[in-house]
Amino acid sequence: MPSLKELDAEAARLRELISHHNYRYYVLDDPEITDAEYDALMRRLEALEAAHPELRTPDSPTQRVGAAPSEKFAVVAHRQMMLSLANAMDAGEMREFDARIKRFLRSDAEIEYVAEVKLDGLAVELVYEHGRLTVASTRGDGLHGEDVTANIRTIKSVPLRLHQPDGAAIPQLLEVRGEVIFPLRGFQRLNAERVAAGEPPFVNPRNAAAGSLRQLDPRITASRPLEIFFHSPGVMEGISFASQWSFLEGIKRLGLRVNPLSRLCRSVEEVLDYWNELTERRHELDYEADGVVAKVNSFALQHQLGEVSRSPRWAVAYKFKAQQAETRINAIEVQVGRIGSLTPVAKLEPVQLAGVTISNASLHNLDEIRRKDIRVGDKVLLERAGDVIPYIVRVTEKGRPRAGEFRMPEHCPVCGAAIVHEEGEVGYFCVNANCPARMRESIRHFASKNAMNIDGLGDKLVAQLVEKGLVRELDDLYRLRKEDLIGLERMAAKSAENVLAAIAGSLNNSLDRLINGLGIRHVGESTARALAIRFGSITALMDASEDELMAVRDVGAEVARSIREYFSEPRNRRMIERLPEQLRRAQPPAAAGGRGALRDKSFVLTGTLETLTREAAEQRILAAGGRVTGSVSRKTDFLVAGADPGSKLRKARELGVTVLDEDQFLALLRDEQSDG
Ligand code: IVH
Repeated sequence: MPSLKELDAEAARLRELISHHNYRYYVLDDPEITDAEYDALMRRLEALEAAHPELRTPDSPTQRVGAAPSEKFAVVAHRQMMLSLANAMDAGEMREFDARIKRFLRSDAEIEYVAEVKLDGLAVELVYEHGRLTVASTRGDGLHGEDVTANIRTIKSVPLRLHQPDGAAIPQLLEVRGEVIFPLRGFQRLNAERVAAGEPPFVNPRNAAAGSLRQLDPRITASRPLEIFFHSPGVMEGISFASQWSFLEGIKRLGLRVNPLSRLCRSVEEVLDYWNELTERRHELDYEADGVVAKVNSFALQHQLGEVSRSPRWAVAYKFKAQQAETRINAIEVQVGRIGSLTPVAKLEPVQLAGVTISNASLHNLDEIRRKDIRVGDKVLLERAGDVIPYIVRVTEKGRPRAGEFRMPEHCPVCGAAIVHEEGEVGYFCVNANCPARMRESIRHFASKNAMNIDGLGDKLVAQLVEKGLVRELDDLYRLRKEDLIGLERMAAKSAENVLAAIAGSLNNSLDRLINGLGIRHVGESTARALAIRFGSITALMDASEDELMAVRDVGAEVARSIREYFSEPRNRRMIERLPEQLRRAQPPAAAGGRGALRDKSFVLTGTLETLTREAAEQRILAAGGRVTGSVSRKTDFLVAGADPGSKLRKARELGVTVLDEDQFLALLRDEQSDG
């Protein structure tokens, strides 16, 4: 048996190796080992530490997700104020900025600038003492921020300990500032999941980043794909740099991720070229960028220039032109969601914005409407965030005569029941669990592709089924007869048969689809899967305690409470008991019982498949326990390449990711099923 000392040495060696490979992967974007090899290192370290907890160190890569939720964030004072940036509106103002600097320095020589992407995220400061991450805080008011150390630690590209190649010196103190961002792909996925789970979507990726970072429970932060880029120094001791460019290079060597698009420019004209290039390319980025930051490169010159009113004289932000349009609000309607929440929606005079016609924009909630003082008849400025959701930036011209302030209705606009609103909360809810609007949304969700996947149960049909009282609860779907359907609008015998066949087909669905379909608040597709695998049957899930629920990956206190609430409602229990036997006995997804070779394997799809749609391919992968992601990285296990594959194929080849053609992919799925 190895001695404790030997094990300690091995743990230290593993941590160093893992740190090295993190550096290759996150900072250099040039990994040396495969995913499986990396995972093996992590597992070995985890096993060592589990067997000998005394070997654990706080900066061990196994210790990213820490302590239980606390009440609120502590306040952190920044040793050096976190400044903000002045803006330049156009090229003329950029040249003025440059001329001002030359005047101030009494010099005609061209100024060297570092041009960087202005990331639209959340500013944070990380403090490394003797190489160890000790505190991370938000910008706050520039002087004081919030302590978000536990959450920042969960971001995989943040080193808990600075990288130390070849025994290089580690500074006593290094404060670095950067931007936490929410990647766009992850953002769309998160919002889709939130909507499916009955939660309000985030307005834009920036809010999603802020919302994820300001979670009291670091497990929630850990489940979000946050990323970080470092861009400026705070206080430094035991290390110094002569310029912004050498600072960026230096911190990169220490394992801190910097944006690869930064560029050293020899004059303001080169900065303008950079801005033009980036304006063209910004849509290729997987994160939101709102402009370019130009910084005087020399720290000596920066020092000489100093600052005015909380902004440095040596830096400026040159924003991109936003994708905006102006239009008028014709009406404000209130929609009722699946859990009864009311959402005000602006009905707009249709307008073109970034290539699509927009006629609706969610106003999110009453607070938002009051803050922006939005009223019917007003002209408003619309913007598309992350090129997805249109939202109203502000009122540009008040309606004349001006309409009264918008008020939330006291009664549900659909069923007329009372509306409840808790003092101090933003939400308004229809109290009627039988509200047709809620029922409509519930059925729509139940039948949706990622839930019970019942084809042919479209919005119009659902609305009629509810209106005619044919479906009052989800289980009523399974008692529909042909004669109920015939006679409904656009329902002939053949289409009625098709709908009934699709409903009957859903009886064979796996348990995770049923759980997802119930529409429990906070429970989306992936949580439903985890619950199905853990509990194995709907009855076991119905009786699970909050503690048992919280033992499941992804399930925190709030989610557990919501699941308990759902199942302690007698009406929900009765509905489930009335579901056909076959459905009540639904089993966890195939992979749990199957061979499981695809379990947790990540797939990327590219090009066109011949025999199945992209959605169907995704479903098959999920059913086999795999994951589907949007872009190829070192973590990708398989790239499925159909006809006319794009750049993903090249990237996969570069990274050594296994590439499958359609036949190989189908064969893999077949093996998975037949061996199960
Ligand atoms: S430098 C004094 N560099 O923009 C220097 N800031 O309006 C200030 N930001 O609070 C920071 N990308 O959160 C810098 N490449 C970049 C940036 C950047 C985004 C944010 C930062 C700051 C805000 C200033």
